[in-house]
Amino acid sequence: MDIEKIMAWGMEKMNFVDEAPLEKGYRYYHGKRTAQIALSLAQGMNLPVDRDTLFAGAFLHDVGKAGFNGPHHGARGEDMIRQEIAQLFSPAELEQVCSIVRYHYTRPHSHYSKGHLLPALSVETLLVQDADALDHFGGNALWLAFRWSGAHGRNPGETIRFYREQDAVWRHDALRGLNFPLSRRELQARIARTDAFFALWEEEERGELTHMKSKLQN
Ligand SMILES: [Fe+2]
Ligand SMILES: [Fe+2]
Repeated sequence: MDIEKIMAWGMEKMNFVDEAPLEKGYRYYHGKRTAQIALSLAQGMNLPVDRDTLFAGAFLHDVGKAGFNGPHHGARGEDMIRQEIAQLFSPAELEQVCSIVRYHYTRPHSHYSKGHLLPALSVETLLVQDADALDHFGGNALWLAFRWSGAHGRNPGETIRFYREQDAVWRHDALRGLNFPLSRRELQARIARTDAFFALWEEEERGELTHMKSKLQN
C-alpha cells in the first residue's frame, strides 16, 4: 500500500474539518493516536499483525465521521475509501482496511452486540476497537471534559460533577467492551490517573492546602 498517499488523503479529509466543540481536525489527531495505540498493543502482546493494515485502518477508522453526525459512520468511511483511494491498496489490503473501518465499533463483548450475529473480525480490527476506546481516557478525557464544559458553560464544580457521573457510565461500557487484557490494564491505569487529577481538583475547590494535608498525614 502507498501509506504516504493514504495519510495525505486522510489528512485532507479529517484535518481541516470544524468539529466544534472539539478542536478543528479532532478526527485526524484521534486517528493518529489510535493508530499508535493499536501498534503499541500489538507489540506489547507480541501479536503477529500486518502493521501497515493495522496502522492505515486505525488512522482512517473515523474518516466517515469527520464533519458528519449521522449514523453508520463506519460504513460511510468504507464507502469513501472504496470510491476514492482503492487504488492505493492491494485487493487484500483494501478488504482488510475496509473491514477495520466498517466494524471498528462492533465490539463482541459489548452489551450492544448481545443477540446480534457478528462477523468474524480480524485481530487488527479487534486491536483498533480497543485503541479507539483507550484514546477517550487519560489525558484526552481531561481535554474532552474541558472542551465540553466550555461549550456548555459549566463552571469547575459542575465540570467535576459531570465527569464523576458521566465518566462512570463511559468507563463501565469501555471496560466491558475491550478485547484484550493489556487494553484493560491500560484503561485502568488511565482511569486511575484521571481520578487522581479530579480528586486533587476537588480538594482545591474546597480550599484545602497541600502543605497542611501532608502535615496532618505525618
Ligand atoms: Fe468511530
Ligand atoms: Fe474513534
